[in-house]
Amino acid sequence: MEQTIREVFISNYDELPVRLGKAVVIEDREIAVFRLTNGNVKAIENKCPHRGGGVLSEGMISGEHVFCPLHDWKINVNDGLVQAPDKGCVQTYKTRIEGNQVYVELPQ
Ligand code: FES
Repeated sequence: MEQTIREVFISNYDELPVRLGKAVVIEDREIAVFRLTNGNVKAIENKCPHRGGGVLSEGMISGEHVFCPLHDWKINVNDGLVQAPDKGCVQTYKTRIEGNQVYVELPQ
């Protein structure tokens, strides 16, 4: 069955700080949004899969990875995968920039 998606406005592009995360709550989802130095905007689930469930929007960004503020797990913001030697993943969300507006795609 095809999954329907919808787009939700999350922020103006120029209000997203470069290399810092921003937490956005949409209904029951908490999403960490990152504006990378290459200009791309990435959105991932705002909860580390490790036991403490660190808030990823408060983590340090380096290139295309975010470091969890609690125990420093390194998570790729493109595919949500935790980098070795640790294991796990977080949900990722597609983003779209239109003019100065940033949207995220959510499952229906
Ligand atoms: S809670 Fe994120 S590394 Fe432990």
